[in-house]
Amino acid sequence: MTAELACFAPSCRARFAITRILYNCPHCGGLLEAVYDGAAADPGALKSMWRERRMSNAPLDQSGVWRYREFIPFLDDIRHAVTLREGNTPVLDGRLAASYGGLDRLAFKHQGFNPTGSFKDNGMTCGVAQARRLGVERVACVSTGNTSASMAAYASAAGLQPVIFIPHGNIAFGKLAQALEYGARTLQVEANFDQILALVRQIAERLNIYLLNSINPFRIEGQKTIMLEMMDQRDWQAPDWVVLPGGNLGNTSAFGKAFREMRQMGLIDRLPRLAVIQAEGSAPFYDLFRAGEGAELRPVEHPRTLATAIKIGDPVSWPKALHEVKCSKGVVEQVSEQEIADAKAVIGRAGIGCEPASAATLAGIRKLTASGVVAHDADVVAVLTGNVLKDPDYIHRYHTGNLDSPDAKRLTSSYANPPEVLPAEVDKIADALRR
Ligand code: F0G
Repeated sequence: MTAELACFAPSCRARFAITRILYNCPHCGGLLEAVYDGAAADPGALKSMWRERRMSNAPLDQSGVWRYREFIPFLDDIRHAVTLREGNTPVLDGRLAASYGGLDRLAFKHQGFNPTGSFKDNGMTCGVAQARRLGVERVACVSTGNTSASMAAYASAAGLQPVIFIPHGNIAFGKLAQALEYGARTLQVEANFDQILALVRQIAERLNIYLLNSINPFRIEGQKTIMLEMMDQRDWQAPDWVVLPGGNLGNTSAFGKAFREMRQMGLIDRLPRLAVIQAEGSAPFYDLFRAGEGAELRPVEHPRTLATAIKIGDPVSWPKALHEVKCSKGVVEQVSEQEIADAKAVIGRAGIGCEPASAATLAGIRKLTASGVVAHDADVVAVLTGNVLKDPDYIHRYHTGNLDSPDAKRLTSSYANPPEVLPAEVDKIADALRR
């Protein structure tokens, strides 16, 4: 199997050696992707080999990414991979949430069960493996929080130096805490995500730092395994819909590529439809999708949402994501702050829990079933992208009735479950519990 980088632009498709440090096509500026040539493997043999590896104690077989290494064969030497046992995330039955979403049944693929608590770990183990193969010493990213937490952990585990750029005052505390704990050099810049990304690209080139943003094609390869693992867990029965939140659109790109490649390899026979959900104040991809054929993405200059993970106005991967949504006959929807907040509380009450951006999925499903786009009896998997503990401040505000939207409007805490303060007296506590 040979691996190369290829320009994603249909009019270019230029190819480059897999070991070149490139973030965009040097000919046309297009996005890059990893492509593979070689003899097709027998799909049945692959499926049983991947299943057998679940019994193995070898670290790379225990990884929910590297177990599927034949699906992401960009490394020439697998020893460059460093695993924290990423992936291995459950598909949970979301019965209580299903009725809220207008569905008979709903499953959650919960990426919050990853080592650093988000789907970023699936991609980061691959990005860091490529960094080791290239022999770089420093890696950097700009992040709304989860990418930085993940990069900090994987780079430190691999003996590389992580440098993190985050929008000052705009990331959830759990994520900032992780970056510090995992030993990243952490720079809080007074600008938004999109502005910092432009800066970091220049700095990376000047100081020879390897960039691990989601534009990095190797991270996309790793994120493909989220869908591969899900299909393995479902015994290769494709759902009708996969619903996910959209920010920088790396996941949308990765999931679409994964399903197309699975079909090419004969692992599945049909593509699930992708439904990408954005927050209303930060929804340039939703606008693009509605603008129709031939439109270009128009960035939202000042994106606003409490779901800080998806507070991105100028998503770099939009050409890939648009291609994938179209190939899958998918849709893009947007949801309000109130809808995200309530959906999040419902997911919590089901005993599952997630961070705000992830809850956009259930809020979106509720809208898409109400408008008849998704049928009530459809087979739907929603991808919960981050762990409930990532943003405890949001949770406390919601349950105590103190959550304000970015335009300073108090949100209604319809599912509030506030803590009660009681004196240290048995009678009073007993009375309170009888009520
Ligand atoms: N959900 C969570 C929890 C995220 O952290 C992100 C992105 C998304 C959804 C959106 O995914 O960008 O692939 O469309 N977080 C990035 C970060 C941008 O820096 O951590 P996407």
